[in-house]
Amino acid sequence: MASKVSLVFLASFIAVMGELQDWSSQCDRCKCKWSSGKKSADCRNASYNTIPGNLSNELRDIDFSNNPLYELKAREFASKNLSDVHKLKLLNCSLRDVNYKAFEGLSLLIELDLSDNKILKLHADVFKSNSKLRIVLLSNNRLKSLEEGLFANKTHLQKVYLNNNLLDSIDNNVFGDNCTVTQIDLSNNMLKAMDGNFLENFSRITSLLLEGNQWNCDCHLQTFRNITISKNLITSRTVCEDPAKLRGQAWIDQHLIFACMPEILEPNFPEPIDVTSPNYTITCKVQGVPTPI
Ligand SMILES: *[C@@H]1O[C@H](CO)[C@@H](O)[C@H](O)[C@H]1NC(C)=O
Ligand SMILES: *[C@@H]1O[C@H](CO)[C@@H](O)[C@H](O)[C@H]1NC(C)=O
Ligand SMILES: *[C@@H]1O[C@H](CO)[C@@H](O)[C@H](O)[C@H]1NC(C)=O
Ligand SMILES: *[C@@H]1O[C@H](CO)[C@@H](O)[C@H](O)[C@H]1NC(C)=O
Ligand SMILES: *[C@@H]1O[C@H](CO)[C@@H](O)[C@H](O)[C@H]1NC(C)=O
Ligand SMILES: *[C@@H]1O[C@H](CO)[C@@H](O)[C@H](O)[C@H]1NC(C)=O
Ligand SMILES: *[C@@H]1O[C@H](CO)[C@@H](O)[C@H](O)[C@H]1NC(C)=O
Ligand SMILES: *[C@@H]1O[C@H](CO)[C@@H](O)[C@H](O)[C@H]1NC(C)=O
Ligand SMILES: *[C@@H]1O[C@H](CO)[C@@H](O)[C@H](O)[C@H]1NC(C)=O
Repeated sequence: MASKVSLVFLASFIAVMGELQDWSSQCDRCKCKWSSGKKSADCRNASYNTIPGNLSNELRDIDFSNNPLYELKAREFASKNLSDVHKLKLLNCSLRDVNYKAFEGLSLLIELDLSDNKILKLHADVFKSNSKLRIVLLSNNRLKSLEEGLFANKTHLQKVYLNNNLLDSIDNNVFGDNCTVTQIDLSNNMLKAMDGNFLENFSRITSLLLEGNQWNCDCHLQTFRNITISKNLITSRTVCEDPAKLRGQAWIDQHLIFACMPEILEPNFPEPIDVTSPNYTITCKVQGVPTPI
């Protein structure tokens, strides 16, 4: 009896060893190990110019940071049999061009870190097949704008970091109609204005970082500012850049009025004034925020 039990035990031990051998030996220049219950590869500083084609397809968590990759081609990961990856880190890979199909086929991708690269733009469909995305980190790149629909229809999306880019505006449609995001970092960009309805479809947002931008604190920003204050989203010191009078002043200061210059609508003197009449009434109509006196 005892020998049978130990035989079974030995057999399963060999099976486990065999499996371990299998995936961790397909590791090329990386260091493979179990990490937080996942088969992980640390491929940092490995001088890869392209994603290697001989890593185990059982890897779920791969860190390719600090490799001079420069670009990600179409199906870069899927074509290398890495379709089942959950977590992908690509920090400091000198990335400039990211093909719109680079992440195609990665239907289980949960976390993607593209920080510290030189990415200039991302195609609206670049995350199309990554419906499970929860975390997207794009800090420290050179993004000037974001395409409409880039983060739309991502029902698991929670965290999006876009800090330290060159964004000068963000279209209302970037995050789509049913946005589940809880944290967005937009600090240290070139943002001047935001639409008053921008946060309309963000039902779960709890953190929005806006400092280090070029905010033009006029009446057009007032609605957005009011919403961020009422939802308690302003947690870091966010100041105005324009107009000069408000430069350096904090949004949160309730005394600040985000005003627009009054505009004179009338009179516009269509006809000559009859100066022979002793009394002449001129109606004056002026529009502005706040209402001019
Ligand atoms: C990668 O290389 C850089 C520069 O040589 C070094 O500072 C860094 O600690 C290295 N990182 C790892 C994970 O080996
Ligand atoms: C794995 O692929 C890389 C890059 O494609 C290559 O440099 C390396 O020699 C390959 N390793 C093995 C063990 O085949
Ligand atoms: C970024 O990656 C390069 C290799 O491509 C490396 O030499 C450099 O030290 C890395 N920078 C940091 C901050 O790790
Ligand atoms: C991808 O993985 C499958 C299943 O493990 C294997 O049959 C196939 O040869 C692998 N393809 C490449 C390109 O490594
Ligand atoms: C999001 O999904 C809706 C409904 O399924 C669809 O009509 C819309 O085109 C999708 N938007 C994007 C940007 O993919
Ligand atoms: C919010 O969602 C509604 C309904 O889907 C849509 O009509 C509206 O344009 C969205 N608002 C913004 C600011 O995207
Ligand atoms: C948004 O979510 C609601 C409820 O979950 C759903 O009925 C609606 O179709 C969704 N709209 C889009 C555009 O995906
Ligand atoms: C913003 O809030 C201030 C003070 O609570 C209020 O006077 C103003 O009408 C609001 N403006 C908009 C556009 O919501
Ligand atoms: C002009 O205005 C003055 C002062 O309101 C008034 O006394 C006078 O009758 C007016 N003259 C005419 C011609 O309407």
